[in-house]
Amino acid sequence: MKFEYYNPTRLIFAAGALARLGEVASQHGKRALLVTGGGSVKRSGVFDRAVASLKLAGVSTVECSGVEPNPRITTVRRGARIARDEGCDVIIALGGGSTMDAAKVMAAAFYYDGDPWDMIYHGQPKPYVPTRALPVITVPTLAATGSEMNMGSVISNEETKEKSFVQAKCLYPVIALVDPELTMSVPQDQTAYGICDIITHVTEGYFNGVDGTPIQDRFAEGVILTAMEYGLKALEDGTNLDARAQVQWASIVALNGWVNAGTNGGFPVHMIEHTLSAYHDITHGAGLSVVNPAWMRFAARHRPEKFVQFAQRIFGLKGKGPDDLACAMEGIDRFEGFLRSTGCDPPVRAEDWGRAYDTICQ
Ligand code: NZQ
Ligand code: ZN
Repeated sequence: MKFEYYNPTRLIFAAGALARLGEVASQHGKRALLVTGGGSVKRSGVFDRAVASLKLAGVSTVECSGVEPNPRITTVRRGARIARDEGCDVIIALGGGSTMDAAKVMAAAFYYDGDPWDMIYHGQPKPYVPTRALPVITVPTLAATGSEMNMGSVISNEETKEKSFVQAKCLYPVIALVDPELTMSVPQDQTAYGICDIITHVTEGYFNGVDGTPIQDRFAEGVILTAMEYGLKALEDGTNLDARAQVQWASIVALNGWVNAGTNGGFPVHMIEHTLSAYHDITHGAGLSVVNPAWMRFAARHRPEKFVQFAQRIFGLKGKGPDDLACAMEGIDRFEGFLRSTGCDPPVRAEDWGRAYDTICQ
C-alpha cells in the first residue's frame, strides 16, 4: 500500500452543535455569506437559529438562497457575486451536499476573475485548479455526500448538460459543524437515497481498488453494515436521534478520504450516475441505486473474489471459494433487495428516465 492522507477540516460532531455556529464562525470572519437551498432550513427553523447564533457572536449575514439539488454553475456565479459585493469574509453552507458543494466553489470564485466553470473538469485542456478560497464552514442537514469534510464539489452546467467535479486543497471546509438533529426533518425518500450514496462511496474503492487492503476492507464493511442497520432505523422513525447520528457519522467517514486511503479505486459508478444526472436532473442517490447493482453484476464476472467477500461478510452467505460467482451474485441480489426495502425502487423511476435506464441497466 502506498498513500498520503491529508484532511485539515476541524470536525465538531454533536447533537445541538448548531448553537455553537456563532462562536466558531467568529474565529474566521465577521461577515458571512449564508448559502441555503430551496427552503428546508427556513421551514425547519434552522436558518433562524443559525442567524441568531451568528448575531450573538457579532457575525453579520447576507444570504444566497435557492441552491438547486444538482447545483448549477449559474447559482455559483450568483453567490460569488454576492460575496464580493457584500464584502463577505467567510461562507457558511447550511443544507445538503448541493448547498455545500455550491458554497465551496463560490468561496474559490471569490478570488478568481475568470468564470468558475473553468474550475470544473469538463474536458478543457487546462482546468483551473483553485489555490485560494474564502474559509467555508459546512453545516450539513442531510447525511449523504460527505461534502462537509472533503475537498470535492460537484457542479452542473444546465446549458451544456454537463455535471462534473473539482477537487482542490483550498476547498476543504475549515470547520464541519455537524449536528445530527438537523437531519431529523429529512423525508424518507431523501434519507434512503442518502443511505445508498454513503454505501456507494465505500463500495467504489472496495470493489474497484487495488488488492491487499484488509484494513480498508474492514472499514468499508463497517460503514456498509452501520449504514444498513441504522439507516433502516432512521427510515422507521425519522426522529430517532441515535440512528440519525450513526448514519451521519457513516456519511462523513465514507468520503473524507479515510476509508478509501490506499485503495486507488476509480469512481466508475459515480461517473455514470453524474452523466445520468446531467441529462435527467435526477437525485444523485436515486441514480446510484440503479447504477450500482447493475455495475456490480458486470464487475463481479471479472473479479468475483471481492464480491464473494462482500456476500459473506455483509450478508453472511457461505461461498464455496473465492471464485464462487453464484455466491457473488446472490450477495448483489441481497444488496439490491436492501435498497428496495429502503424505498430506492429503480423500476418506478425508470418510467421517468426512459431510455437512459434501458441503455445502462438492460
Ligand atoms: O434544497 P432544500 O430545500 O434544502 O431541500 C433539500 C433538497 O430538496 C432536501 N433537504 C436537505 N436537508 C433537509 C432537506 N429536507 C428536509 N429536511 C432537511 N434537513 O433534500 C433535497 C436534496 O438535497 P441535496 O443537497 O441535493 O442532496 P445531497 O446531500 O444528496 O447532495 C447531492 C449533490 O451532491 C453531489 C451530488 O452529485 C449532488 O449534486 N455529490 C457531492 C459529493 C462531494 N462533494 O463530495 C460526492 C457525492 O458523491 C455527490 O456526487
Ligand atoms: Zn455520491
